[in-house]
Amino acid sequence: MAKRHAGIVGLGTYLPSRILTNFDLEKMVSTSNQWILERTGIAERRIVDKETTSDLAAKAGLRALNDAKVKNKVRKKDVDLVIVATASPDMIFPSTACLAQEKLGLKNVPAFDILAACSGFSYGLVIAESLISSGIYRTILLIGAEAISRFVDWQDRSTCILFGDGAGAVVMQETEEGYGVLSSYLAADGGGKDLLKIPAGGAFKPASFDTVERRLHYIKMNGREVFKFAVQSIFDASVKALELAGLKVSDIDFFIPHQANKRIIDSVAKKLKIDSKKIICNIYNYGNTSTASIPLALEEIYRSGKLQRGDFILTVSFGGGLVWGANVIRWSY
Ligand code: UT7
Repeated sequence: MAKRHAGIVGLGTYLPSRILTNFDLEKMVSTSNQWILERTGIAERRIVDKETTSDLAAKAGLRALNDAKVKNKVRKKDVDLVIVATASPDMIFPSTACLAQEKLGLKNVPAFDILAACSGFSYGLVIAESLISSGIYRTILLIGAEAISRFVDWQDRSTCILFGDGAGAVVMQETEEGYGVLSSYLAADGGGKDLLKIPAGGAFKPASFDTVERRLHYIKMNGREVFKFAVQSIFDASVKALELAGLKVSDIDFFIPHQANKRIIDSVAKKLKIDSKKIICNIYNYGNTSTASIPLALEEIYRSGKLQRGDFILTVSFGGGLVWGANVIRWSY
């Protein structure tokens, strides 16, 4: 039997309405708009108020399903599986995917989370593509969603300036040969586990007065080391995914890197020698939205009408774990 090919047939995003600017942050920690802009490229980010990760996931998921219905006649009842990639789940269990599944009214549809920090969407594309190409499922809703601000230490100026909330979702189905997810490369190195983490709240360090007092339920990061790792790993992953797809950098129409720091994006773009017009960067408005950053950036080119059937897209991400990965996608609608 010929191999099946899986691609995106619907896309939707959701952002909470509350905006937190660098000027707001100036009033919270010892920082400045100028420092944040120069060192990260971020001007503002969205922050949840009452909503939580599963709310954002369900809202983005619904929009992706509507898009898939209008553009590709996919019905909600076609959905066979819900996957939520998140680093900020509502709870350890039940999974955020189960909570979003209920909010979406997808009764009895299997649902699970994947935890690959900011690379969750890259990992999710591989899982969804494999399950479709193997014939196990036909229609998968893959969502990257984060209320990561709930895990941000608003007293730590080195991390609180970086993150923002949001969600992006794709509906995936079988597509024609030569379209959809053409290649993927994933990697991990647990040796870097201490560089970026939320130390407490799991089985290793359950919640206690001590963990709360020492602020161990918040994101801790060695920014300089993560920066160096990021530049090298996303360069390597990009090269490997392109090789697997049999493509050159110049074949790529849009380069969508995980939006963590504008300086990281610029350094990788320089190493890859990619035309700056092809780089999608929306970090100025949203900061680092972890698993949501790639679908949010993808949606920007999709809605603007720039993305055309047949375009080659290279997406690449990195995050705590350490994890990293890249996917080459050929747009199919
Ligand atoms: O998806 C998650 C992945 N995470 C990342 O990608 C983060 C990667 N790392 C980074 O983006 C950067 O390392 C940061 C933006 C976090 C920091 O930028 P940096 O250029 O690496 O700064 P640094 O950590 O080397 O700190 C330089 C100085 C320090 O002061 P001293 O020790 O030189 O006096 C910091 O204390 O900047 C200080 N600093 C700040 N100053 C004003 C750190 N944060 C701030 C701040 N405002 N918010």
